[in-house]
Amino acid sequence: MEHEVTKVDIIVSKSNEAGDITYANPIFWKLSGYSQGELLDNPHSILRHPDMPKIVFKFLWDNLKAGSDVFAFVKNRSKDGGFYWVLAHVRVAKNPDGSFRNYVSTRRMMTEGARKTIEPLYIKMLEAEKEGGMSASLKVLEDSLSESGASLATFNETMKKLNS
Ligand SMILES: Cc1cc2nc3c(=O)[nH]c(=O)nc-3n(C[C@H](O)[C@H](O)[C@H](O)COP(=O)(O)O)c2cc1C
Repeated sequence: MEHEVTKVDIIVSKSNEAGDITYANPIFWKLSGYSQGELLDNPHSILRHPDMPKIVFKFLWDNLKAGSDVFAFVKNRSKDGGFYWVLAHVRVAKNPDGSFRNYVSTRRMMTEGARKTIEPLYIKMLEAEKEGGMSASLKVLEDSLSESGASLATFNETMKKLNS
């Protein structure tokens, strides 16, 4: 069953360097179906949906490790087996001295228009991944981006535009 994300919802969580949850806001608890106690200190992969291509998370982590933020559409799985789609903005927060503070993800509703593009794309990427691993799904993603004159370098802007 799909859980509705409304346009006023801002779903926030923070994590340590390993991706373990150190903070989640009430709308996060509500949509995921987990209590705050069940979320804290657990990995964000607790929400991982099997429909998500692995390459999306590799792209996310590669960018975070390099200090860059990422806007990516994510299908999350709730505790009850349901799901919800979001556009996540994940970034690195630094302390005043420049050292690592945490990773922060702010998620908003996915638009119908974005869904029409992303859902079939992720299905195609997942199929490619099953056959040829992450290099195959990366190729599907790159081909799709280039069809609209975009590339991995303009990934964030392309995702934001899709959701507008
Ligand atoms: C701040 C932050 C938020 C994240 N939020 C999610 C999320 O909502 N859903 C999700 O599946 N993965 C999220 N991830 C990515 C997970 O850490 C993980 O890479 C992903 O679930 C894939 O899990 P796996 O590598 O065990 O397959 C987040 C990572 C960070 C750093």
